[in-house]
Amino acid sequence: MVLACAGARAVRGAARAAIPCLWRGRHFSSGKEPGENHPVTPMLQHLVYKIKSTGPITVAEYMKEVLTNPAKGYYVHRDMLGEKGDFITSPEISQIFGELLGIWFISEWMATGKSAAFQLVELGPGRGTLAGDILRVFSQLGSVLKNCDISIHLVEVSQKLSEIQALTLTEEKVPLERNDGSPVYMRGVTKSGIPISWYRDLQDVPKEYSFYVAHEFFDVLPVHKFQKTPHGWREVLIDVDPQVSDKLRFVLAPCATPAEAFIQHDETRDHVEVCPEAGVIIQELSQRIALTGGAALIADYGHDGTKTDTFRGFCGHKLHDVLIAPGTADLTADVDFSYLRRMARGTVASLGPVKQHTFLKNMGIDVRLKVLLSKSAEPALRQQLLQGYDMLMNPKKMGERFNFFALLPHQRLQGPSQERNANQSKPSPAPVAGFSELAWQ
Ligand SMILES: C[S@@+](CC[C@H](N)C(=O)[O-])C[C@H]1O[C@@H](n2cnc3c(N)ncnc32)[C@H](O)[C@@H]1O
Repeated sequence: MVLACAGARAVRGAARAAIPCLWRGRHFSSGKEPGENHPVTPMLQHLVYKIKSTGPITVAEYMKEVLTNPAKGYYVHRDMLGEKGDFITSPEISQIFGELLGIWFISEWMATGKSAAFQLVELGPGRGTLAGDILRVFSQLGSVLKNCDISIHLVEVSQKLSEIQALTLTEEKVPLERNDGSPVYMRGVTKSGIPISWYRDLQDVPKEYSFYVAHEFFDVLPVHKFQKTPHGWREVLIDVDPQVSDKLRFVLAPCATPAEAFIQHDETRDHVEVCPEAGVIIQELSQRIALTGGAALIADYGHDGTKTDTFRGFCGHKLHDVLIAPGTADLTADVDFSYLRRMARGTVASLGPVKQHTFLKNMGIDVRLKVLLSKSAEPALRQQLLQGYDMLMNPKKMGERFNFFALLPHQRLQGPSQERNANQSKPSPAPVAGFSELAWQ
């Protein structure tokens, strides 16, 4: 409740975007949006050339090229977030979201023995808004974190967004060090004096005691799509339409393809999406957490191994045909949390997925909202706080579509290992905040 009592200067709602009605968690079936024209983008030309040279490509290859191609990728050179962009995310909607995640990390840090140092590592930090809100909580709770050596590590492939993150988090009070050829391509110091570094790949982040956060990151990782046929699973590929020049279309692979190995033997659905890259990242996070301690908090829209066709596009806050004007629209697919859980199993414990409204309620969102409302007299700000709350919590909006999922060392759920005689029962571990009600000690 320490944060709940923070003062009026903590109300930052005015800096948030007005809230459009569309968020990326919304679902629609891909490739069927009517009435769109077909502009020939540089990315489309590149893909048509590639497919004509070497044959149809997988949906995963298409997503990777369209989103993160270093020259023309959608994420690389633009700011797509917010009111004027293509979509809105929870941290951009309300400051409370990042504040409660900041509390989660402090709560885990306390429950696991208040280590002398930790790294906060964010995967896909967007505009740096979430990290900024978490860092503000760390500053407000400076008396709790005093003597703890904190550093910030951002994993980001977008040149444009990394510049925006640097501006948000450091205000460039200390000049940034840049080295494009190095795995640490930028370094600086945050507004509150914490060292901050940028990487393109999680592998390059130092393997130290860390808290990891990934919000709307796993849904942009490339998925392979499969369809069940009388001849077995066949992968969905992307080809050039022979009838219309410069138009792409979906086709089925004529025979089995290697990514089929990622489909479960007892799979009962007719269509599935698999995301091997998500598996690789979860295994890397799990190994790190098992080795050094810490935790990972993953928040995204998704399902528990039940959905089929979730690949979709967004442009200007509208749903967009994934095959039209590639490079100008965001592409995404729901995260399969059952797959993430399988990838972590045996190395670390996992919790969730739990619905966003449950997680945030358990974290004390109602108390925090009340305090912010009591400190803000401006009607526009109060309205924004209330609208933001509704967007995050309403089950028909983001409250039920978004989920929280955590990776923790096995010891964290087993309780402290202490010498006990036969009569003593095992001390029970502190509950994990968000996944049960927050017990602030
Ligand atoms: C949908 S945005 C989410 C941004 C932010 N987390 C938020 O919630 O506002 C996805 C983020 O992941 C980054 N990204 C996409 N693919 C990536 C990859 N393969 N490695 C690292 N970052 C990536 C994008 O540049 C962007 O910052």
